[in-house]
Amino acid sequence: MVETANRIKSVEEYYFSKKLQEVRSLDSPDFPVINLGIGSPDLAPHPSVIRALNEASVHPDVHAYQSYRGIPELRKAIADYYTRYFQVDLNAETEILPLVGSKEGIMHITQAFVNPGEKVLVPNPGYPTYAAVSNLAQADINYYDLKEENNWQLDIASIEKMDLDDVKLFWLNSPHMPTGVQYPEEMLQKLVALAKKHHFLIVNDNPYSMILNQDYQSILSIEGASEVAIELNSLSKSHNMAGWRVGWCAGKKDIIDAILKVKSNMDSGMFKPLQLAAAEALKLGENWFENLNAVYLQRRSLAEQILNKLRCSFDKNQQGLFLWAKLPANISSSEELIDHLLYEYKVFLSPGFIFGTQGHGFIRISLCANENQFKMALYRLQNYQ
Ligand SMILES: Cc1ncc(COP(=O)(O)O)c(C=O)c1O
Repeated sequence: MVETANRIKSVEEYYFSKKLQEVRSLDSPDFPVINLGIGSPDLAPHPSVIRALNEASVHPDVHAYQSYRGIPELRKAIADYYTRYFQVDLNAETEILPLVGSKEGIMHITQAFVNPGEKVLVPNPGYPTYAAVSNLAQADINYYDLKEENNWQLDIASIEKMDLDDVKLFWLNSPHMPTGVQYPEEMLQKLVALAKKHHFLIVNDNPYSMILNQDYQSILSIEGASEVAIELNSLSKSHNMAGWRVGWCAGKKDIIDAILKVKSNMDSGMFKPLQLAAAEALKLGENWFENLNAVYLQRRSLAEQILNKLRCSFDKNQQGLFLWAKLPANISSSEELIDHLLYEYKVFLSPGFIFGTQGHGFIRISLCANENQFKMALYRLQNYQ
């Protein structure tokens, strides 16, 4: 085989891409694996969204290439959504760039702003894609630690002590996955001040804001933030549309234009009926989130029972689609526990180490399984010692 490029030597295949093959190999019709590992919503989008997709698809003029900037109806729906839920006014023409999910945005933003060898700051623990993409771009990755003793909050004083002068990007994820905390406004104000002082760009990755969260927040609502911050968001979790691949980036025109330069050379606009249906989803009222969160709340109480059975400790007030929990003192390896649960009980949870060194000693349970699956997992674990 032709030798692969150096840039992929520094990255591993995504943990779940490998582990799920192993999980599937253990699956059998009479004793299926209960997957409480991944955050892929199992619930359906609102019927009006499916209807919009179906109705639009029958028109003969919707099958051509679409604008690289997304269709105006989708950009307008995103702008209205930001006004309604985050009190942020965005120019729908210039300050919103629809994306094929927010994950692709992580690559586009990195390509647009980071030269090989330049510094990026990445949370530890955090979503593994920030580091993986930074590695692919041959960036210099510097981790900022989030610690249990600080309740996983940003430690602005420690961040300030890092050498920030050459930092290009600061990956922020609030509400944070996997720890389930949202950063208070004053903390974000301090971070924005640091970004202004040291001239770096904050990218807040915000896909969990609508899930089990009483206080919807966008970094763009912080005064002066839009000078130094942009936001990624998506319909994957908020509207049960992870497989549709619809997300966006929001921020100042010159920043969006730089990202568009990369995106327009890498992919084309999404299928028009999908964009129209996504716009329909964004128009759903508060009722949609109330119903969705009622389901997750119910599941969370079952997830808590599973964690109690495993003698793990956790904060009950986490935001987002997961519960992050600490292993009991007599278990040191999350990987060993996860494999024990998988092979003995056919219940799959995520080990904390995949989110970084600060995740050692922790596990993550996803709420993306139905109540019966949670109850079955509890039943299987009844004799767990
Ligand atoms: C923190 C975080 N950011 C981004 C993503 C990617 O989401 P999307 O489906 O919008 O690409 C995920 C998906 O799990 C995530 O957990």
